[in-house]
Amino acid sequence: MLRVGQEETDAVRRVFESGKMFRYDIDGECGRFEQRYAELIGSRHVALSSSGSNALTAALAGLEIGPGDEVIVPAHTYMATANAVLAVGAIPIIVEIDESITLDPIALEQAIGPHTRAVMPVHMWGQLCNMDAIMALAAKHDLRVIEDACQAVCGFYKGRGAGSIGHAGAFSFNYFKNMTCGEGGATVTNDDHVFDRVRCMIDPCGFYWEGRPATFEPFVTSGARASEFEGAILNAQLDRIPALIDKLRAQKSRIVQATTDSGLTLSPRHDPEGECATALMFLLPTPNAAIAFQKTAGGGILAHTGRHNYTEWDPILSRQGGHHPALNPFTLPQNADCRMEYSKDMCPKSLEILARTVSIGMHPDHGDDDVDALIAKILAAAKQVLATA
Ligand SMILES: Cc1ncc(COP(=O)(O)O)c(C=O)c1O
Repeated sequence: MLRVGQEETDAVRRVFESGKMFRYDIDGECGRFEQRYAELIGSRHVALSSSGSNALTAALAGLEIGPGDEVIVPAHTYMATANAVLAVGAIPIIVEIDESITLDPIALEQAIGPHTRAVMPVHMWGQLCNMDAIMALAAKHDLRVIEDACQAVCGFYKGRGAGSIGHAGAFSFNYFKNMTCGEGGATVTNDDHVFDRVRCMIDPCGFYWEGRPATFEPFVTSGARASEFEGAILNAQLDRIPALIDKLRAQKSRIVQATTDSGLTLSPRHDPEGECATALMFLLPTPNAAIAFQKTAGGGILAHTGRHNYTEWDPILSRQGGHHPALNPFTLPQNADCRMEYSKDMCPKSLEILARTVSIGMHPDHGDDDVDALIAKILAAAKQVLATA
């Protein structure tokens, strides 16, 4: 969360006072947010839902990914990315990241097999994936691209909104994200048919209120609708977000400049101007150097975030892919030819990179003095660590 204030409280109060808490009221907050967010990121359609996990699942289902399909996911992401693949009955293939801590396009191409239908690049920590390379490979191998932009609200890759570049994208608005309404998500796409399917995933009864597109046959889903409270909070958050992200970018570029001659290596970035700048990443020469650096500079080592690495995805590693044995994608006959061998050491390159990467968080409430203090700590840590490395 970057900031919440009086505007959000007022927005929630207005919804209470209007008595209109259901999203299908005319001129509602959810609809207004969807329109405004679509304009911001440059996508034709946006569908608000109750979480990033549901938004990802809706995106995959929207693109008709299901049993018999393999979907490539990176080794470094929140487990929800891979969970969404299983939620639609498909099988996640876990693939190495590179030093940018996002999906390695070379590893992606090597991992494509006869059943691979889609890839989910994840813009982790607001750093952007190498979308040019990924989109080119997807075109070459006829893969659908679902961008997990849950951590990249307001990120732009070469001028295009993160999430709007692939065939579909998904965002999270949970408490930890750049823009929050407590819990929430959004699926985006430029494709009208995919959007109808996404809306059906989010509300299979939505046609009672919104009408049924002439050529669309609704199907049964459990739904994941957002309320007007989430819409209202997000409208207030949307007013704030561009200025807050600009502030983070300014902070980050100040630190980058001040540490240029320190001997430290920044993690490579695919669009330094467009990334969210929520975190600054340094790649240290060895895991021990990363530990020593982090002790003085602060921040965290990406190998130790506790939940963002495939080694922590216990239900997937043990192939518990569903709540009922007959609905477990790992045992469905349609998936019998898909690859599903997982082990904790299957992506050694990723583990090595993550053990050497120290991430330092930016925050819009940090003033100039805070940034100066942070720069001093980073320089002291660099001096201490690089001298002995
Ligand atoms: C990369 C990534 N994907 C998906 C999600 C899932 O979002 P949610 O928690 O809103 O379901 C998250 C949330 O932490 C995330 O960081």
